[in-house]
Amino acid sequence: MNSPLPNSSNPALSTAAPITLPLDRQPTIRIIPMPADTNANGTIFGGWVMAQVDLAGSVPAHQRAMGSVVTVAVNSFLFKEPVFVGDLVSFYAKVIKTGRTSITVEVEVYAQRHRFGSEIVKVTEAVLTYVAIDENHKPRALFPEY
Ligand SMILES: CC(C)(COP(=O)(O)OP(=O)(O)OC[C@H]1O[C@@H](n2cnc3c(N)ncnc32)[C@H](O)[C@@H]1OP(=O)(O)O)[C@@H](O)C(=O)NCCC(=O)NCCS
Repeated sequence: MNSPLPNSSNPALSTAAPITLPLDRQPTIRIIPMPADTNANGTIFGGWVMAQVDLAGSVPAHQRAMGSVVTVAVNSFLFKEPVFVGDLVSFYAKVIKTGRTSITVEVEVYAQRHRFGSEIVKVTEAVLTYVAIDENHKPRALFPEY
């Protein structure tokens, strides 16, 4: 017998209220994972999700820095639900804090399950810190926000 799908992936069993994508902003990345991105369980490898989160978070960090940034820390990372091959995965990132040289970004990740039409699941939440760097790869002060 096939093992049952997780409740969050089966609308008939899910107790969670349906959610929508954030309506007030655009995702910084949208991507569909492929079979090559899976782990031994057949779901999407956590390292793949982490790499996309890092890229997605770097977009608003780079904009705020008005130049190059590097990731200095992953402050928190929660894999709430699995991602499946063929999901449409959207990464929403926003700056939540700035320091002298650092920019902290929150990234929220939603998967649209292709197998069940428009069902949307929040799969990951993360907070990362980036540092603005100069041409010598050393931290540089952020320019004032205008
Ligand atoms: C990021 C890097 C340039 C920082 O250099 P550094 O000399 O350690 O810099 P500092 O100690 O002055 O810290 C710079 C900023 O990072 C912040 N920071 C450092 N460690 C941190 C941590 N663990 N969590 C959150 N913020 C941190 C500091 O608070 C500081 O912020 P502020 O200026 O806004 O107060 C350096 O550590 C580096 O090159 N690391 C490798 C980056 C990398 O390869 N990332 C992966 C690929 S992008």
